[in-house]
Amino acid sequence: MTDAALGRASDLILAAAKRPPIRVESLFDEPTFTATHVVYDPATRHGAIVDSVLNFDAASGRTSTRGADAIIDYVKRESLTIDWLLETHAHADHLSAAPYLQAELGGKLAIGREITTVQNVFGKVFNFGTEFARDGSQFDHLFDDGETFALGDVPAIALHVPGHTPADVAYVIGDAAFVGDTLFMPDYGTARADFPGGDARALYRSIRRLMALPGATRLFLCHDYKAPGRDHYVWETTVGAERASNIHVHDGIGEDAFVEMRTRRDATLDLPHLILPSVQVNVRGGRLPPPEDNGARYLKLPLDVF
Ligand SMILES: [Fe+2]
Repeated sequence: MTDAALGRASDLILAAAKRPPIRVESLFDEPTFTATHVVYDPATRHGAIVDSVLNFDAASGRTSTRGADAIIDYVKRESLTIDWLLETHAHADHLSAAPYLQAELGGKLAIGREITTVQNVFGKVFNFGTEFARDGSQFDHLFDDGETFALGDVPAIALHVPGHTPADVAYVIGDAAFVGDTLFMPDYGTARADFPGGDARALYRSIRRLMALPGATRLFLCHDYKAPGRDHYVWETTVGAERASNIHVHDGIGEDAFVEMRTRRDATLDLPHLILPSVQVNVRGGRLPPPEDNGARYLKLPLDVF
């Protein structure tokens, strides 16, 4: 079966390689090991922010915009116009700062079309009422697989890459791909596939799809955890490097072997400590729950569900 969306993405990357590369500035949030990427067209200075973080202290319930403010400072200093606030998926390890960034910088908030599946799952888990729409309407745009868009003069395309969650999207922008939680650095491997709706087999297929992009494609990851023996964080690699040496999924590792490894490893992992706060905020597009009649906002803690 031919993969038309993947073919368009590859063509786009090969064409982009003949132009000045897109610029990427990454800010790393060490408490959640998350890399937020500001990506822009150097010619028009139009850009996007991929996977932002709202700082959150679970013990006190206090949020902070410290990290987001650093992004705002960068965008203003560089005189960028933000067209898009892109989420690769509904994160389970940090709260998104996208609504805060949008209020300050503009741009359209977007995620993959399948977010509605994730909203249905967690709408039930948290017993949200009818005030919680499960149609993705908290976002300005829902991307379909193969849908094109642009940052200034730089063409871009969304690829649906489910597995970590049902809704993951990789954004190919110019000569780079922002792959969210599919691949990590070659020495660290791949994302877990055991969250509700996750699927190791689907993850393998999504990763092989990304690995079919041109070898020189720059990959920007959502997380890095410093593999054993490495003393610094890295969140950029290439398709070629992943194919050659990703410890979980380099060329030659088949689907069944990957699924067996991934399933065994996932069974040993603790849940991310911010999963319950994160998902109930992120399925709302990063908005905190509405205030109660005393003006305070509350998160829910489902007991004995996970
Ligand atoms: Fe994730």
